[in-house]
Amino acid sequence: MSSLPRSVVIKGTGSYTPDNIQTNNDLTKYVETSDEWIFTRTGIRERRIASADETASDMGAIAARRALESSGLKIEDIDLVIAATITPDMPFPSTACLIQTKLGISNAVCMDIEAACSGFLYIMEVAASMLKCGRYRHALIVGTEKLSSILDWEDRTTCVLFGDGAGAAVLAPSDTPDVGLIDFKLGADGSKGDVLYMPGGGSAIPASSQSLDDRMHFLKMRGREVFKLAVTVMEQAAKEILEQNGVNSDQLSCVIPHQANLRIIELISSRLEIPMDRFYLNLEKYGNTSAASIPIALDEAYRAGRIQSGDLTLMVAFGAGLTWGAALVRSP
Ligand code: UT7
Repeated sequence: MSSLPRSVVIKGTGSYTPDNIQTNNDLTKYVETSDEWIFTRTGIRERRIASADETASDMGAIAARRALESSGLKIEDIDLVIAATITPDMPFPSTACLIQTKLGISNAVCMDIEAACSGFLYIMEVAASMLKCGRYRHALIVGTEKLSSILDWEDRTTCVLFGDGAGAAVLAPSDTPDVGLIDFKLGADGSKGDVLYMPGGGSAIPASSQSLDDRMHFLKMRGREVFKLAVTVMEQAAKEILEQNGVNSDQLSCVIPHQANLRIIELISSRLEIPMDRFYLNLEKYGNTSAASIPIALDEAYRAGRIQSGDLTLMVAFGAGLTWGAALVRSP
């Protein structure tokens, strides 16, 4: 390509979820809950739980390999790897570097970006911008989470909601205008960080026997507040991106929402006046997989034929931070 690329397209997608299924009934062994409560409040029936020796980078590497296969590109074509996760194998090196090594990518810039459940849309915009400036050829972006490693299995208000898994996409520059990643609308409000967070394990509260006794290394959430914020910011981000691009909601063929709670998605559907049958849903099977949620759903939607050439797809997410984002994609 002689001049700067005119667009960036999704060349391939892949995903991976562990085989081990944990049903709502299985959770009644740990906490006082029921399938009826979990399903009616969230839409979740079961989730996947990684094995003890399976890490976020292991899952991410499998999803990445599948994305690469579907793109038709080779390992040596990738020169940028960005991962999004709140459950890295370890604080450093980055999960992107670990995935690079597992795939045998020898010559790439690798980094992690953390924006919790909005992470995949954040890394998508960062990677697209880096490709658009013409310095990189192909990007591998991966959202991967082993949330089971930070759940408090004695806290029924959180442990029933989340699951493990990974999703990935390969992005490539293109000379065709107005296709691929058309636009992004990302946002954040750090003042609301305390509604969903993990207090321990960083420089504020490093690991100690005291921090373990105080259960500081688990995800904490004020669910009802997160629910309200999620609906507000997702609606706003979606409306803004549609308006900015002159897109009417009935031009959207598919909506890929962050898979946190079916009631949140139903509210978004009614506020945006987009029928529920245009939303791709898989939270019944996987629960909330944070940064992996959008790319797993995106991969499944492509493989199920829900996204065809020329289709406009909206992706919309929110997460801890508070962070949020929307992305508009036209399939080439
Ligand atoms: O990616 C972002 C991640 N976070 C989210 O998306 C979370 C957003 N929030 C939510 O999805 C919902 O707020 C929840 C599913 C977390 C909770 O649903 P809710 O309808 O907001 O319930 P609630 O928190 O108002 O709790 C209602 C009752 C409470 O009992 P009392 O006080 O009414 O007696 C809870 O103690 O349900 C109780 N409860 C449970 N009961 C059975 C909370 N968790 C459970 C449980 N099983 N697992």
